[in-house]
Amino acid sequence: MDRPRILLTGARGQVGFELARLLPVHGELIATDRSTLDLADPDAVVAAMRALKPGLVVNAGAYTAVDRAEGEREAAFAVNANAPRVLAEEARRCGALLIHYSTDYVFDGTATTPYAEAAPIGPLNVYGESKLEGERAVAATGAHALVLRTSWVYGLHGRNFLRTVQKLAAERDELKIVADQTGTPNWARTLAQATCALLARGVFDLVERAGLYHLSALGSTTWHGLATAIVGAAAKPRVLPITTEEFPTPARRPAYGVLDSTLFRCTFGLELPTWQDALAACLAEQRAEASG
Ligand SMILES: NC(=O)c1ccc[n+]([C@@H]2O[C@H](COP(=O)([O-])OP(=O)(O)OC[C@H]3O[C@@H](n4cnc5c(N)ncnc54)[C@H](OP(=O)(O)O)[C@@H]3O)[C@@H](O)[C@H]2O)c1
Repeated sequence: MDRPRILLTGARGQVGFELARLLPVHGELIATDRSTLDLADPDAVVAAMRALKPGLVVNAGAYTAVDRAEGEREAAFAVNANAPRVLAEEARRCGALLIHYSTDYVFDGTATTPYAEAAPIGPLNVYGESKLEGERAVAATGAHALVLRTSWVYGLHGRNFLRTVQKLAAERDELKIVADQTGTPNWARTLAQATCALLARGVFDLVERAGLYHLSALGSTTWHGLATAIVGAAAKPRVLPITTEEFPTPARRPAYGVLDSTLFRCTFGLELPTWQDALAACLAEQRAEASG
């Protein structure tokens, strides 16, 4: 299977957008988004899989509105739990490899050192519960699947913390940002690049190493630390630390979600850069785009 047919879901999301640019090197890409493949419609997912018979499925689609999910449990589970299950069942049926993404929000955040894959889980919110259910559903099908847990994804496209901070920074003299949640920011580009570096090993090689892996940049910070790094040396706005209590949200979030990517590194010989280096590269690209 030198150039497998690749079905990509969620191609307009942060990671999906980056994957859509990189995946054509690795096979015949069929990139889908909500308008061409609705993951909440299991019949549509089955029909697409049976029509396309892909050798590889990359599921970058997800219900990622963490706060909204508290009131839309069914919708979150349809996309984050049932769709991966159906994709995995169909992947097993046609012998495809599935690459699926999950989240640090499967953990309860009470740890104080980076989470390994086997660490006890305990999601605090509906989004985390639905993603955990997705992981379990994929595993239960027995499909050849790589499930990559990551955290705090940002990029130059889509809705994310980086773009929100930049927008608010242009409007305000002062930003108040939560400083008691610790995690690792991940540029969507680096996640897509790591996914493609895996694919360079060949699908058969990956089938032998199927399983659950943490995939995250090195290091950790708080949302306040990340906002400070985004704003950089500019005199304004001032970035002030606040507590989670001072910024209540519908969904509870783990106080600590740093992922230990040692297993990924040892298995595949691949490592993401530090979060600071990845952010610097992302901001440099943004400046380059802006200047022409
Ligand atoms: N974002 C994070 O901070 C974060 C953290 C940890 C793990 N992850 C995981 O990383 C993966 C990629 O996330 P991301 O940051 O790239 O998310 P994203 O930017 O929100 O992209 C998700 C994509 O899925 C699409 N989608 C939602 N419902 C759909 C449906 N019913 N049918 C088809 N497509 C649908 C969305 O389309 P619409 O735009 O039309 O809704 C969006 O384009 C996901 O598995 C996510 O759970 C993300």
